[in-house]
Amino acid sequence: MTNIWARKSMAVLEAEANDAEFGAGSETAGLHRTLSLASVIALGIGCIIGAGIFVLTGHAAASYAGPAVSLSFVLAGIVCAFAGLCYAEMASTVPVAGSAYTYAYATMGEFIAWIIGWDLILEYAFGATTVAIGWSGYVTSFLKDFDITIPAALASAPLAYDPANGDWTSTGALFNIPAAFIIVLLTVLLVVGIRESARVNNAIVLIKLAIILLFIVAGVSSISAANWVTSTNPSGAFIPPNLGPGQYGWSGIIRGAAVVFFAYIGFDAVSTAAQEAKNPQRDMPLGILGSLAICTVLYVLVGVVITGVVPFDKLNVPDPIALGVDAIGLGWLSFLIKFGAILGLSSVILVLLLGQPRIFYSMARDGLLPPFAAMVHPRFRTPYVTTILTGAIVAILSGLLPIGLVGELVSIGTLFAFTVVCLGVLVLRITHPEIRRPFKTPFVFVVAPLGAASAIFLMFGLPSDTWLRLGIWLVIGLAIYFFYGRQHSHLARHGSGQ
Ligand code: ALA
Repeated sequence: MTNIWARKSMAVLEAEANDAEFGAGSETAGLHRTLSLASVIALGIGCIIGAGIFVLTGHAAASYAGPAVSLSFVLAGIVCAFAGLCYAEMASTVPVAGSAYTYAYATMGEFIAWIIGWDLILEYAFGATTVAIGWSGYVTSFLKDFDITIPAALASAPLAYDPANGDWTSTGALFNIPAAFIIVLLTVLLVVGIRESARVNNAIVLIKLAIILLFIVAGVSSISAANWVTSTNPSGAFIPPNLGPGQYGWSGIIRGAAVVFFAYIGFDAVSTAAQEAKNPQRDMPLGILGSLAICTVLYVLVGVVITGVVPFDKLNVPDPIALGVDAIGLGWLSFLIKFGAILGLSSVILVLLLGQPRIFYSMARDGLLPPFAAMVHPRFRTPYVTTILTGAIVAILSGLLPIGLVGELVSIGTLFAFTVVCLGVLVLRITHPEIRRPFKTPFVFVVAPLGAASAIFLMFGLPSDTWLRLGIWLVIGLAIYFFYGRQHSHLARHGSGQ
C-alpha cells in the first residue's frame, strides 16, 4: 500500500514524456511532435468555442445577467487568464499528456492526483454530454429549416430541472436521440483513429471563427438599447435590477460568469497535447494564452451583439445565436450559423471524447484504475476499451439529462481542477525551485493564489445543488481510491516516487 502523499519524481515524468509506447503517442502516432504553434492554438480554439457561446450564452443572459452578460464573459475570462498562466507553466515544465492529473501527481502526490483525475471526468465526460445536448438543439433546428421535424419527445431529455428551486419535472420526452447519436458516431471514429485530426480540426476552427465574426459584423449595426427593456428590466438598464441572489444585478453577473465559464473550458486541453507539439516549451504557453485571448474578445463581442439585437428574456432557447441572426433579418446567415455551430460543436465533443480515455489511460497505467483501461487496440493503436466505455456512458447521459444541470456540473468540476493546478504551481515552485521552467508564470506568488481564489469565487456563483453533486462525486471517487487505487498503485510497488 502506498503513502497517499507519494509524489512521482520528475525523472519518471520525463521518462514518460519520452516514452514512445505511451498510449497518447501511439493513439496519435501521425501527430507525434508535428503540431505547429498555429495548430496548437487551433486545437485550443477547436475545443473552446462550442456550446458555451452557441447555447449557454442565451441561458446566462435570460436567467442571470441580462445585457450585462458581456461582463460575465469578462469576469470568467479573467479567472481563466490566471489559471491559464499557471497551466502554461505546468505544460511547459511537465510536457506529459494527462493534463492536470499528471501534474498533480508530481506536485501534490497520489491522493490529490486521484481526486483531480476523478474530477476531470466531470470536465471531459460530462463536458461532452453537455455539448452533445447543445448539438442536438442545433441539429433539430437546422433540420426544421428543411421541414424535417424530429419530434420533441425524441430530441429532448425526459427530465427538466429548475435550478431556482431544485425541482425536477417530467417533460414527457423519451430520449434525446440526436445527442446520443453524435456521441456514438464520434466514439466509432475515435476507436478507428483519426490520423488527420489536426488538419480536420484546423478547418473546422476556421469555419467557426468565420461564423462568429460574421455574426458580430452583421449584428453590430442592429444593436439597439431598446432591446434591453423587458418586464424585469423596465428602465432598460445595462445591468438589470437585482431580483434575488444570482438573479440580475451584480450577483447575477457573477452567476452568469459561473455559467458562461463553460464557454472557456478547453484551453486546458491544449496541455494534453504537450507530447505532440513540436516545441512544447514555447508553444504550450502561447497556445494556451493565445487561444484564450482570442476567444475572450470574441465572446465579449458576441455577448454585446446578441443582447443588443434580441431582448434578453427571449434568449433562453437551445439556439440563441440563430435567434439573433433571425432578429438581424439575415435568414441566409441563419443557415450558415447553424451549420457552423453543428460542425463546431462536433469538434469540441471530439476533443473532449479524445481527452477522457487518455486521462483514464494515464490513471490505469499508474495502477489507479484496472489494467484493462490501459489496453490499446492492436491494430488501431487507440485506447479502445476506455473510448468505448466513455462513449457508452456519455451517450446514455446525453439522452437523459437536461443541459443546464450537466453544464453547471462541468463548470464546478473544471473550476475545482483550476484551483488545484494553481496551487500545484505554487507548491512546485517552493518544493522544486531548481527545475527548468521554460515558461514561468509572472508574479506567481500573486497570480497563482488569485487564480485559485477567483476559481473558488466563481464556484460560489453556482447553485448549492451543484456543490452537493460535486461532493457526492468526490465521495464516490474517494471510495474507489481507498478500495482499489491505493492497493494497486504502481508507485507503491515500484517506489518510483519521492
Ligand atoms: N468550451 C467548450 C464549449 O463551450 C466546452 O463547448
